[in-house]
Amino acid sequence: MCGIVGAIAERNITAILLEGLRRLEYRGYDSAGIALVDGEGALRRSRRSGKVAALEQALKEQPLSGQLGIAHTRWATHGAPTQRNAHPHFSGSVALVHNGIIENHEALRQRLLAQGYAFSSDTDTEVIAHLLTEQLKTTADLTDAFKAVVRQLEGAYGLAVICAAQPDRLLAARSGSPLVIGLGHGENFLASDPLALRQVTDRFIYLEEGDLAEIQHQRVQIWNADGEPVRRETVEYPQGEQSADKGAYRHFMLKEIHEQPAVMQRTLEGRLQENAVSLEAFGKGAAECFGKVTNVQIVACGTSFNAGLVAKYWLEALAGISCQVEVASEFRYRDTVTPKDCLLVCISQSGETADTLAALRKANSGDYLATLAVCNVPTSSLVREADLHLLAQAGPEIGVASTKAFTTQLICLLLLCLALGRARGHLDNAVEAELVAELRRLPARVGEVLAMEKKIALLAERFAEKHHCLFVGRGTQYPVALEGALKLKEISYIHAEAYPAGELKHGPLALVDADMPVIAVAPNNELLEKLKSNLQEVRARGGELVVFADAHSGLESSEGVSVLTLPAIHDGLTPVLYTVPLQLLAYHVAVHKGTDVDQPRNLAKSVTVE
Ligand code: G6P
Repeated sequence: MCGIVGAIAERNITAILLEGLRRLEYRGYDSAGIALVDGEGALRRSRRSGKVAALEQALKEQPLSGQLGIAHTRWATHGAPTQRNAHPHFSGSVALVHNGIIENHEALRQRLLAQGYAFSSDTDTEVIAHLLTEQLKTTADLTDAFKAVVRQLEGAYGLAVICAAQPDRLLAARSGSPLVIGLGHGENFLASDPLALRQVTDRFIYLEEGDLAEIQHQRVQIWNADGEPVRRETVEYPQGEQSADKGAYRHFMLKEIHEQPAVMQRTLEGRLQENAVSLEAFGKGAAECFGKVTNVQIVACGTSFNAGLVAKYWLEALAGISCQVEVASEFRYRDTVTPKDCLLVCISQSGETADTLAALRKANSGDYLATLAVCNVPTSSLVREADLHLLAQAGPEIGVASTKAFTTQLICLLLLCLALGRARGHLDNAVEAELVAELRRLPARVGEVLAMEKKIALLAERFAEKHHCLFVGRGTQYPVALEGALKLKEISYIHAEAYPAGELKHGPLALVDADMPVIAVAPNNELLEKLKSNLQEVRARGGELVVFADAHSGLESSEGVSVLTLPAIHDGLTPVLYTVPLQLLAYHVAVHKGTDVDQPRNLAKSVTVE
């Protein structure tokens, strides 16, 4: 949700800022801008609506250079995605970029208007720039003035500020939107995500909630929310880790789909004993806590929510533990009743999703037994603030539509269910041993599904002309159907819905005709016969069927029915395996339609605003 980059150096930083923006474009891509203090000590700026490429073109035509600067790629909240609303915003000698929402911007704007300030944008951000100019009239030092301004802000923000009158520093503040400082030699950097800065450094300091930082060439000073100077740990990443490169793939999404066998393997590493899940993987205190859990509440958003829905089936079946799953934006504001001995599990790829974080904070101050984060980003707020965590080892996910993060989340959740089942004495050792053995075979099975890509791409051609699509499944395949529908709508803009197959006759069947394809995920389990009857109901109404099933399903392609055969696998692992062809289908439909696969319209990867 908006990407921020900043730098203070003794060389021209324009190219570094632009490269940073390119790497952060997944966070927002409706406009972009850059501001620098030039060789004469003047503030210069270039902004464009549209993608970073438009800004790049503008800079080719009218180059800017400077050694102190900030840049921004936007996902609009207040004000349309136009050039005048694009960041950085100026006031006097101050330039500023912002990620988040200033909730009291209207009151601040009225005050500033009364003081004679004119606004040149419709954003909530511009008030901060004017506040700083106003504050500098009475507080000479830029850092002190910035501290005073930040105290007046309500809402969420990641901020980066430069000032032409005091060009020896870059300032940053974090409240609700992540920021990381990149440490160089005689130069320092700032960004929303370390990925933006891997081009220049591998040493990082993560700002914590409420932190404010003064970043100079040789020095970084940080104050916490109470204004006390603090030291934050420096984290080093080994070279080569966290690559954000598409490699030979046409899109990040396709690369990430194909990375799944490898990242699944990584997610399992060190977490399996010979026949059981290792409890140490969940951190200190997990063993003691898990033995007491009698209820689980899962909260998440988007794709991560779908992973939570799968976990509900697993938790109740394998661990005998009652489980509720809720979208975080509802859970956070509702009057909730905490069940006895309840573990709150939040699931998030980024660990920065505003609603999921708020739900975790609500639970942390409530009467839950403990909170646990299943997350892909080890340095994220969610991981830091939860009592326990289990990391999905998917590596950076750049495509806005989540793929490898989802399947590795599923693996983590299955490990959690097995660990809870054992701790509660509910899980039979033989069942655990069988699932552990199957988990070891899973990456290879997923590889076999990936090898079906050509067939799926052919099928996708038929979908490109459709306007609507239904996905159905039963049991754990219902959330898989939900995830398939979400992928298709996110990147191909085809209206797609998912239903538990048994619900078809209670409404959606009315929509079925020759123009409404129905996609079914149908592994060979005790629900297969029931599902087959539901599929007959679709055929009887002329609906075209695409069925993903295994060789033992007894389903065969015929007029209006295409069956794609997947490898046979233990029923416990079908949610992971059956998700993969649906990802490939959505991807190839989007490619046929020519949509922007990695950066679909109106969406963003990391939703750090409500
Ligand atoms: C956005 C992304 C989705 C993601 C959701 C939750 O909507 O586009 O891909 O599933 O946020 O994000 P999280 O990082 O919390 O999993």
